[in-house]
This record gives sequence, C-alpha cells and structure tokens, in this order.
Amino acid sequence: MPGPLDVFRDGVLAGHVALVTGGGTGICRGIAAAYARLGADVCIVSRKQDVLDATAKELSEATGRTILGVAADVRDPDAIARAVATTVERFGKLDTLINGAAGNFLAPAAALTPNGFRTVIDIDLNGTFYAARAAFEHLQKSGEALILNISATLHYHGTPLQLHASAAKAGVDAVTKNLAVEWGRFGIRVCGIAPGPIAETEGMKRLAPGEATAKMTAAIPAGRFGAIDEIAAAAVYLRSPAAAYVTGHVLVVDGGHCVATPPLGMSFAT
Ligand code: COA
Repeated sequence: MPGPLDVFRDGVLAGHVALVTGGGTGICRGIAAAYARLGADVCIVSRKQDVLDATAKELSEATGRTILGVAADVRDPDAIARAVATTVERFGKLDTLINGAAGNFLAPAAALTPNGFRTVIDIDLNGTFYAARAAFEHLQKSGEALILNISATLHYHGTPLQLHASAAKAGVDAVTKNLAVEWGRFGIRVCGIAPGPIAETEGMKRLAPGEATAKMTAAIPAGRFGAIDEIAAAAVYLRSPAAAYVTGHVLVVDGGHCVATPPLGMSFAT
C-alpha cells in the first residue's frame, strides 16, 4: 500500500510559495515537508530560530529545496508581517499561508488564569488573524491563493480541561468561514483542517500523556492515532487543483473520533 503522500504527482506544487507558521515541529513541519517534496518553496515560522534552522536543514536535505526559517512570534503582528515580507522578498510571491502555530496545556477552567486563557487565544486565534491580515496583500496577487487554518475538534463538544484551546479553535474556524466569504472575490480560498489525535506530536505528548494514550486510542473508531503524513496529505489535497472549488470548509481528519466519541470513561474496546 502506498503512503498517504505517494498518491500525489511529483512537482504538483512546483512554482507555489507557502508560509507555514508552526512549521518547525509536529504537524506543520510535516505539511512543510510534504509541500517541499512536491515542489513548493516553503518558509517555516516559529519562535525559536535554532529549531527552525535544524528543521530547514533536514527538510532541505530530504527534498533538495531551499527551506527558509524565519523566527517570529505570531502574537506579534509586526513580527509576523516581517516574516511574510521576508518570504516574498526571498521567493518573489506568496500563494499559501498555513496557520498552524498553536499553544496548549491541560487546565481546569476554575484554575485557568486570565493570562493562561489569553495566551492561548493570542497564539491560536489572534495569531491566525494577524498572519492572514499580513498575507492578504500578497495572496490577492497570487490568483490561486489558499489560507489553511489548522484547528481541532475540541469545540464540537465540551472538552474537559480544554476551555482555552476550544474557545481559540472555535474562533479559528469562524475566521476560516468569514475570510472565505470576504476574500473569495480576491482569488483566495480559505479552508481548515481539524486534526484528531495525531501520533508523535507535542500536542499529544501534552494532552494524552502515559495511560491516557490507550484510553484515547480505544475511543477512536479507526483504532489508532493518525500519522502526521495523513494531515499533510489533506493539506496537499486542499492546496491542489483538485480542491479548486472547496472554500470555507474545515476538513476533519480524525479517524472518526469526533463523531463517535463515547461518553466519558467508556471506550469502544470490547
Ligand atoms: N497549566 C495552567 N496554566 C498554564 C500552563 C499549564 N500547564 N502553562 C502555561 N500556563 C499559563 C501560565 O501560568 C501563564 O499564566 P500566568 O501568568 O497567569 O501564570 C500563561 O499560561 C502564559 O504562560 P507562559 O509560559 O508565560 O507563556 P509562553 O508564551 O512562554 O508559553 C504556552 C505559551 C503557555 C502555550 C506554552 O505551553 C508553550 O509555549 N507551549 C509550546 C507549544 C505548544 O503548546 N504546543 C502544543 C500545541 S497543541
């Protein structure tokens, strides 16, 4: 059986330029890698230059493409605007913005401090808007632009210990729909991906540590965590001409987790 990315033609993203926030690690590193592998020029953005440098080197060696790493905190509108400008200076244009930078931790609402709540809203939601706003003038020149916002399924139900992240991701999905409506006329599609539990990510280390992994696996109809490449494949599909008429849509990639989550404490295991 081929891997999730093997179904895409080599060079299908040649000539595309993408900026990926959160691209230094995890899911968004996987998306950056997939785009580069398929021919795109990619700039990865996160807070830590040393992490970006290491990832850029690895991805360059694996794909043969130049990967630009620009340090910026998405909570700082000026910093993300500078990262967008640097990408356009280096690659000449911008076709795709992927908003993947996120922060999260488990915390009961009653113990969550205002600053803890604000911090996650700032990174996930405000950062998504700041990056989209900064990229707009360049994306509208692309003629085939895409903004892809990475959200979650937390807010489809009430999720314990995740008030801050659920509120932020609900906002991100609202940004996706509203920008799709407002910016469609500028040739900009705006889509989302809502990943379920994905193996080998910082998110899962933080949110499903130790024994919680087995419990969560038992609640996933697919019977396993997803792979980073399975999210990357969805991101390639949404970027590709195959999705040219798809906008305002959030694609859930979660092995059926959110439609089948059993009552707390139960599992599908028999
Ligand atoms: N439980 C409760 N509150 C927490 C927390 C936790 N585990 N971790 C951080 N916070 C609170 C802090 O207490 C602080 O609030 P306070 O000033 O009222 O005490 C606030 O969040 C900001 O924390 P700080 O560490 O100063 O912010 P930061 O910008 O350095 O870190 C985070 C941002 C909080 C998201 C941090 O967890 C982080 O950088 N994570 C890495 C990325 C990540 O989370 N990836 C997973 C994606 S799913």
